[in-house]
Amino acid sequence: MKPPVTIAVTGAAGQICYSLLPRIAAGEMLGKDQPVILKLLELPIDQVQKAMRGVAMELEDCAFPLLQGLSLHAEAADAFKGANWCLLVGSKPRTKGMERADLLKDNGKIFVEQGKIIDEVAASDCRVVVVGNPCNTNCMIAANQAKRLPKENFTAMTRLDQNRARTQLAKKAGVKVTDVENIIIYGNHSPTMYANFNNAKVKGKAVTEVIKDRAWLEGEFLATVGKRGAAIIEARGSSSATSAANACIDHVRTLTTVGPDLHSIVVCSDGSYGFAKGVWASMAVKTVAYGKYEVIKDQPLTDFCKAKIKATNDELVGERDTVKEMLG
Ligand code: NAD
Ligand code: LMR
Repeated sequence: MKPPVTIAVTGAAGQICYSLLPRIAAGEMLGKDQPVILKLLELPIDQVQKAMRGVAMELEDCAFPLLQGLSLHAEAADAFKGANWCLLVGSKPRTKGMERADLLKDNGKIFVEQGKIIDEVAASDCRVVVVGNPCNTNCMIAANQAKRLPKENFTAMTRLDQNRARTQLAKKAGVKVTDVENIIIYGNHSPTMYANFNNAKVKGKAVTEVIKDRAWLEGEFLATVGKRGAAIIEARGSSSATSAANACIDHVRTLTTVGPDLHSIVVCSDGSYGFAKGVWASMAVKTVAYGKYEVIKDQPLTDFCKAKIKATNDELVGERDTVKEMLG
């Protein structure tokens, strides 16, 4: 049996975690042969702590063979101590009529504090995954607190957008989702994100050869993916949870599985693709070792892509300006 991996998860009494935690404990994130220890963090509020205890009781009642430890915390320093992975879900979701960036002032503060504490107490190989919105900028805030952990260890999640884009292309082409490959999200997890259909493939052929309706690709497709989060809030009355949890599982599983496939994650920009240095932007990566990725810097970009990337970069730079006092 492998030694257990310790995973700290914040927002444990919330919607996303209700879907996420059982899947981690069942081995869907790190593998069916990988024991895990879960350390759950919630706000130090009686009612919320009580709700988290309920979630923990259900996890116990599943008798997951891989779940070798489960502890509940109200203090970030206890939850993050020794963690190999910190999944930062806990934060406010937006409600109808809001953009994700409207959450910045409230949620940003959480990531200043948690970034600092993770850097002080987590394991030296700790990987941090930011789900809480606006996730790119929150990830930048957390990473900027780190003196010990490298910036590459801080990523945020656009896998949900990638999965959404893959499904929309598969539906339009009338194929299975597994027939659609190399659909990569660039930029911000916001309506400005760019799902780069130009390099995507359907059964090995360029998407643009299979879906000849360019107006759909440039219009309805991008808008559907970019505004899917708002559409779910409109329909459900609360933000995506099961699909967000699933994307978090995919994000970590892909990041821990070496392979040639490209996938989208939000990383610190080194200026590639025209993104401003130091903002956290989604781009194509390939996993080269457990938890280690290489940014793919040579994806061809059309003028249309470049204009889209400029717009999403401008938004990221604007968000960075908004939180400049939080960047340590
Ligand atoms: P939720 O309100 O159901 O749960 C959030 C939980 O976080 C709450 O229980 C709250 O008490 C807890 N929390 C708040 N501050 C905390 C802190 N400082 N430490 C620990 N816990 C804290 O929300 P949800 O639906 O689970 O969504 C969580 C976040 O994920 C939101 O910001 C949402 O917008 C975001 N989200 C991101 C994506 C993505 O693709 N990146 C997708 C869906 C949702
Ligand atoms: C999503 O994309 O579903 C989440 O980021 C939630 C939201 O606010 O859109």
